[in-house]
Amino acid sequence: MRTIPYFAILGIAVVVALQSCSPAGGDNPGHEYMPDMGHPITYEANVYDDYSYNSWNTAERSVVDRKTLSGLNHPVKGTIPRGYVGMTPDDEVKMMLMTGQSSNSAIRTTVNGSVPFYYKDNEDERLRATKEIVGNPFPITKVGLQKGKELFNIYCSVCHGEKGDGQGYLVSEENPNAKYPAQPANFMQDQFYTSNNGRYYFAIMYGKNVMQAHADKLSYEERWQVIHYIRSMQAKAKTLQYDENQNTFFPAAGTPYAVVAAKKPSVATAAVTEAKKEEHSAEAHHEAGHH
Ligand code: HEC
Repeated sequence: MRTIPYFAILGIAVVVALQSCSPAGGDNPGHEYMPDMGHPITYEANVYDDYSYNSWNTAERSVVDRKTLSGLNHPVKGTIPRGYVGMTPDDEVKMMLMTGQSSNSAIRTTVNGSVPFYYKDNEDERLRATKEIVGNPFPITKVGLQKGKELFNIYCSVCHGEKGDGQGYLVSEENPNAKYPAQPANFMQDQFYTSNNGRYYFAIMYGKNVMQAHADKLSYEERWQVIHYIRSMQAKAKTLQYDENQNTFFPAAGTPYAVVAAKKPSVATAAVTEAKKEEHSAEAHHEAGHH
């Protein structure tokens, strides 16, 4: 007997539920429960307004199907949108101009744009990136290595260790709560010494297994400065050199600033002129202080 009211309530609920979604027909637009949640027009600004036209995937209003219209428009392969940077290893000089390091007329821009990265997140592509990405688009500079160190110690060392040996605090014996499930890569190994930069860049872009991606945390230039810094630590371990003056560790992986400057005398001259100017103005200030 007591089951009857429950049936009644259930019956009413079903009727209400069906009724609330009464179908459209003729002049009746029908009802939908909170339609904006189902057709988020605000998120699809570049799509024909198919909500108000009620022409989902039909050819009535559009000859292009909805999926195509609302899909992301990837940049054409090999092109770089305005304001974005994509440099090759021979472009160090251009890069220095961009970052205001080398000339009086330098444009000071933060090289922060997203740069095309045509590798998918899988093992084959990791190997392809490792093979194909050899050089570092930025020259090795003192400032860059310092910046790389700072960033490495913020973003990587908790796992990979300040020495890059895979003994970060998260997995170290000093940490009484060390529970991190995987061994972070130890960069002080032959396989990492000899590996091209692509392996590092790929790992930063996508992470690997339990390592998270860092593409959103490091800008294009920052990623490459971190890689320079890792290279410099490896060189030190092998008692080789990897700095702004010389790279005896892995010449293809990074060009010292001195080499770039020697190749392009104008860059060297400009840098020296800048330095002199700064000295002069410092002296001027100094003298002014005495009078
Ligand atoms: C939360 C811990 C963690 C952080 C933070 C982290 N890593 Fe890793 N990383 C790992 C682990 C774990 C692996 C080993 C993944 C595997 O092989 O399964 C790894 C692997 C790597 C590899 C080797 C990938 C390969 O191809 O074998 C590179 C290179 C690397 N990390 C670079 C970095 C850099 C650069 C940073 C900082 C920007 C960083 N990692 C930050 C945990 C971390």
